[in-house]
Amino acid sequence: VNVVQDNDAALPDTLPGGQVSSATRLRGSGEYSLQLTSGLYRLQHVKVTRGLLTPRNPTLRDCLGDRSALVVLSPAVHRLYGRHIERYFGAPGVSPAVEFMVLDRTESSKTLDGVLEVCRRAASAGLRRTSPIVAIGGGVCCDICGLAAALHHRGVPHIKVPTTLVGLVDAGIGIKNAVNYGGRKSAIGSFHPPEYSLLDIDFLASLPRRHLVNGLAEIVKMAIVSDADLFGLLSTDAVALVESGFHQPAAAATQLIWQSVAGMLSELAQNPFENADFRRKVDFGHTFSPYFEVTSGYSILHGEAVAMDIALSAEIAGSRGLLAADDLDRILSLIQDLGLSLAWPRTSIDALWASLAGIMDHRNGDLHLVVPTSIGGCEYLGIEALSLELLRECTFRLHRRGTDRFWTSAHGLSDSVGV
Ligand SMILES: NC(=O)c1ccc[n+]([C@@H]2O[C@H](COP(=O)([O-])OP(=O)(O)OC[C@H]3O[C@@H](n4cnc5c(N)ncnc54)[C@H](O)[C@@H]3O)[C@@H](O)[C@H]2O)c1
Ligand SMILES: [Zn+2]
Repeated sequence: VNVVQDNDAALPDTLPGGQVSSATRLRGSGEYSLQLTSGLYRLQHVKVTRGLLTPRNPTLRDCLGDRSALVVLSPAVHRLYGRHIERYFGAPGVSPAVEFMVLDRTESSKTLDGVLEVCRRAASAGLRRTSPIVAIGGGVCCDICGLAAALHHRGVPHIKVPTTLVGLVDAGIGIKNAVNYGGRKSAIGSFHPPEYSLLDIDFLASLPRRHLVNGLAEIVKMAIVSDADLFGLLSTDAVALVESGFHQPAAAATQLIWQSVAGMLSELAQNPFENADFRRKVDFGHTFSPYFEVTSGYSILHGEAVAMDIALSAEIAGSRGLLAADDLDRILSLIQDLGLSLAWPRTSIDALWASLAGIMDHRNGDLHLVVPTSIGGCEYLGIEALSLELLRECTFRLHRRGTDRFWTSAHGLSDSVGV
């Protein structure tokens, strides 16, 4: 930076150093105002592969190069894939300086403590500035590791290897990382893009049915707001995919996931740091859902809550004449056919309404509620378009359509949720 003395000399038009983009002298005083331009250009690679953990697959090896790394596994991944992981990293050509940790955190313990746990391990492993934290697990593991990577040394690279359906189509490809805080869902976090997202649908073979269905809700979200073809694919093949553990029909399994990933990435790319606009299609299903997740003590899974939010938002669109009755019916039928619920019997409409204040803070003062206007289209509603009474009526209609099937079925929720 060129230091300009407080005298009558004119400020130079350009200053050396590149980063200071302008300088002005405040009139009549000895003070200057400098403007600093800074920007971080980040490239995120999303790689699609199969058999990621087989030693002959070079993908992960190539991503690491000769860097040391901290590999973080969720307990289920450790139990199911620990031997494969050991074999993979023991194979010749893989960086020898890889440390491991098992992160025993669930949705209800997705907190800053978990982030600090990873930071402590990164420090004790001597993880350097260019060495990545590699998360191999579901959305909880990816979120915690992403935030730890943003904090360790004020930022080290991270690699996401999502092993759940929610992870593959959402948490593992986004650049946001957040943990729950102060009774709020994903309340604190960072924008810290992963260096690599490595997507392998083979992990879904071991995923319990409830978590498959849970992940489908995020695909339903993308389909309704931006991709009518994807909605068609879900309607014809999703039930069979769940029944077969995401094996059959094989072509539909890959098509469904990659079409959803491509749709998600193209939406995210338009406003990655959410500073261009607070109206985001991918917020569909994420306005009322935090209420369901938090109030149920996280016994309702993320995707299950998203599905109930989608149903309520669609019902609101229908009641305001924005969505045709047959499209509303197709949306609600798909949710039910997948084995997801339309509404939570324990909903307190007053509390649901009150929860919107926090969402509005997050969206800079308005609700920007995403509602479908067709299969494949949407628009945004401000808070003035809603009322407590409207929420009550719409929730009532969803209950009347039938939610008992879900809450009394084998979701393991019937003891925590009144029917
Ligand atoms: N950052 C983002 O952009 C973003 C986007 C969507 C969701 N999320 C977050 O993701 C979380 C939900 O993620 P989730 O649904 O993956 O939950 P999760 O991480 O809790 O995983 C679900 C369960 O499946 C187990 N598991 C993981 N992989 C497995 C496998 N291959 N086989 C068998 N079991 C396996 C896990 O150990 C866990 O018990 C929420 O906290 C949500 O807020 C974040
Ligand atoms: Zn989500």
